[in-house]
Amino acid sequence: MHIFDSARIKLTAWYLVIIALISISFSAIIYQVVTNELERGFMVAEYRIRGMPIPHQRVRLLLEDELMDAKNLVAARLAVINGFILIVSGLASYVLAGKSLRPIKLAMDEQKRFVADASHELKTPLTAIKTEIEVALRDKNLKLRQARELLKSNLQETDKIKDLANYLLTLSKYEGNGKDIVRQKVNFKEVVSEAVEKNLALARNNSTKLLSRLEEINIYGNKQSLVELVSILINNAIKYSPKNRKVSVDLSKRGRSAVLEVKDEGIGIDKKDLAHVFDRFYRSDSSRSKDNIEGFGLGLSIAKSIVELHEGKITVSSKPNKGSTFSIVLPLV
Ligand SMILES: Nc1ncnc2c1ncn2[C@@H]1O[C@H](COP(=O)(O)OP(=O)(O)OP(=O)(O)O)[C@@H](O)[C@H]1O
Ligand SMILES: [Mg+2]
Repeated sequence: MHIFDSARIKLTAWYLVIIALISISFSAIIYQVVTNELERGFMVAEYRIRGMPIPHQRVRLLLEDELMDAKNLVAARLAVINGFILIVSGLASYVLAGKSLRPIKLAMDEQKRFVADASHELKTPLTAIKTEIEVALRDKNLKLRQARELLKSNLQETDKIKDLANYLLTLSKYEGNGKDIVRQKVNFKEVVSEAVEKNLALARNNSTKLLSRLEEINIYGNKQSLVELVSILINNAIKYSPKNRKVSVDLSKRGRSAVLEVKDEGIGIDKKDLAHVFDRFYRSDSSRSKDNIEGFGLGLSIAKSIVELHEGKITVSSKPNKGSTFSIVLPLV
């Protein structure tokens, strides 16, 4: 049986035990009170008939019979009411137990999907390494030059596995309750400059013009996570842009918030993908196949976790082949 179904039945059983205990205790009290009243009535009646000119003993027996019948009737009614309560509350408990457990089931399903996706991503480079080694071993005349090529390719695949492991560790760090992440006053302008610097080499490789307009702003947060967040957005903006395009990074104050916009003139995101880009392991078809851009689909899910940890909001607007703008709004100190 699925763990969800067995937990649901167990929870229903517990609800029922509690309800049955309450209902039976109440019934016992009601029975006690009613029969006490009946017995008092019996005694009063017996007292009254004592002085009457009728055969005392027979009437007494009749009265006793009546008393027994009345007690049985009360007991039977209470049993029916208890049965009814148990059936109705059993059904209600089953429905409520299902409702209470549903979020846990959804989280479990999501976790399962995540493990499956992560395993798949790990398997791809491992299979590539294995196949290359097997092919090379079968070649009796393998030259040193070919062996070096093989090692180089293997190294690239190993790097991918290392990147994925790092990503997964980062994700687990941010998706917890964030207790280990120390927050303090940070200069957001410095954070963004650091993130820009981290991506300079990539921008140069792609001949991307990286422009930034940054206001002096302080926020309350964790510097390292914030650099990571901004870097993820700048990295994507460059990665998903053809050569010789512009990427602009703007930081400004708006009311009681700091607003960061990372804008590119790249391939853009299809409407159908927009709602999913923050999901773990989600990559749009165009980045997967057509343009063959490498990635795991984890960057934006990490970015979202970091923003949420800082009580902020992240949004995206995009037009295919025109470009995308990712915006982050974070509360000021
Ligand atoms: N600036 C952008 N322009 C166009 N598409 C983007 C942009 N940023 C994200 N996307 C789309 O959103 C998807 C998810 O982005 P995300 O950063 O999470 O993963 P990734 O870049 O594919 O891989 P990685 O895990 O290495 O970051 C991308 O695959 C891409 O399809
Ligand atoms: Mg990315």
